Amino acid sequence: MDRTIEGKAYINGTFETCCIGFENGKISAVKKILKGNEHIDFGHKLILPAGIDIHVHFRDPGFIQKEDFSTGSLAAAYGGITCVFDMPNTQPPAITLNALVEKTLIAKKKSFIDYGLYAAITDDNIENVEELAKKCSGFKIYLGSTTNSLQLSSQQLKKALHKISKTQKITLIHAENESCLKKHERVEHNLKDHLYHRPSECEEISVRTVLESSKDLSSKIHICHLSSCEGFEALRGHPKNFSVGVTPHHLFFDIKSIHSNHTFYKVNPPIRSPLDRETLWHGAINGFIDVLESDHAPHTLEEKEAEFDKAPSGVPAVETMFPLFLAEVKKRKMSFNRLISLLCEKPAELLNIPKGRIEKSRDADLIVVDFKEMSTIKSEKLHSKSGWSPFEGWPAIFPSCVFVRGEKLIEGQEILVKQGFGRFVGE
Ligand code: NCD
Ligand code: ZN
Repeated sequence: MDRTIEGKAYINGTFETCCIGFENGKISAVKKILKGNEHIDFGHKLILPAGIDIHVHFRDPGFIQKEDFSTGSLAAAYGGITCVFDMPNTQPPAITLNALVEKTLIAKKKSFIDYGLYAAITDDNIENVEELAKKCSGFKIYLGSTTNSLQLSSQQLKKALHKISKTQKITLIHAENESCLKKHERVEHNLKDHLYHRPSECEEISVRTVLESSKDLSSKIHICHLSSCEGFEALRGHPKNFSVGVTPHHLFFDIKSIHSNHTFYKVNPPIRSPLDRETLWHGAINGFIDVLESDHAPHTLEEKEAEFDKAPSGVPAVETMFPLFLAEVKKRKMSFNRLISLLCEKPAELLNIPKGRIEKSRDADLIVVDFKEMSTIKSEKLHSKSGWSPFEGWPAIFPSCVFVRGEKLIEGQEILVKQGFGRFVGE
C-alpha cells in the first residue's frame, strides 16, 4: 500500500474511526488498522469524500482575464473540490470537435484537479451530437439567453434530446424560456428589474417544455440551478431520469436580504423571493434536490462595476461552496448525509465517475476537515482571478488537507502538485 491515512472517516453514511489505504490512486482498503509505506494520522479530524462540482465556467479559452483553468482549478482545490465539469460558453465555444479538443489540451496542461467538459447543442450543431459525444462528458442546452450564451430554440429541443439520448450522455439544461425572457425585457437599474426581466414563469415554461420534449427518453436530464417555487412545482413527480441542481447563491440570498442595486448578485436565473429560497432549502434538505452546483461564473471586479444594465451576470463560487455548507452542517441547518449526497455521491453517479464515496476501488479523492476550525471568507484569500465574492465575511470551514487520486494536493495553504496533475474524466 502506497499510503494510509487515519481519522474519523465518513463511510456508508456514518463516521468511523478507521484507516484508509491508497494504492495507484485508488482506495484499496478501509479497515480499523492499516499501515502503508507512509502513514498519516489525522486524529480527531474528519475525512470526507472530496466534492465534485458539475457546473463551473473556467472561461478558458477566450475570457482568461476572468479566470483560466489554472486559477479556476486551484480555487476549486482550496475549496475541497477535486473534480469539475466545465461549461461550453467559452471562446471559441465548445460546439465543435476542434474546440473541444483545443479545450481538452488547455485543461490537460493547466488543471490541478480532475475535470470533464460539456459540449453545447445549439440550433446549428444538432447533427453533430454523435461526433461530439466522443470528446465530451455530457451536453449543455441553453433554452434562454445568458452570458455568451449558445442557444437552442425550444422547437428543436425534442430532436436534440432524442439524438443525445442515443449517446447515453447526460444533458444539463439552463431552463429559462427565451420568448418569455424577451417578453419581459427592460432596461435594468437594479436587481428587481433583473428579476422582473426573468420571472419564475420563464423557468416554469422551460421546465415544462423539457418534460414534454423528453417523454419516453431514458437518458439523464439535469435541470441546472433551479430557482423558483414554480419550477419546483413543475418538476414534482418528475421521471426517474431527471435530476435537479441548486446553487449556493439561490440558497443563501433572496431579493430582500441583499442590496437591490449591487451587481455582485446579478446572476441568471435571478435571485428571487424569500419564499423561493425557502422552498429550495426545503428541497435540498428533504432530497428533492439532487445536486449542489456552484455555477462558478467569475467576472472581474471592473466588469461588475459597470452600470447595472451593462454588468455581466454571474457569481464566483467554486472555492466557497463546500466550506459554506460545512458551516451550515455545523449550525445544524443541514445534515452531513445530505451534504455529502449533494456534493459528492450524486454528482459522481450522474457523471458516471468512480469518485464521491470512501469505498474500495473508488478514486482516493478525500478532504480532511477540522470541524472545530470555523473561519470567515475573505476575498483576498481566495484563488479565483475574479478577486471578489458575494460571501465576503461569511462563516466557513475550509479543508486543511485535500487528496486527489491518493496524492496530497493541498496541505494548509500549500499546493503540493504541479499544474497539469488533473486528468480528464467522464468521457
Ligand atoms: C453564466 C456565465 O457568466 O457564464 N452566468 C450566470 O449568470 N449564471 C452563464 C450561465 O450559466 O447562465
Ligand atoms: Zn452556468
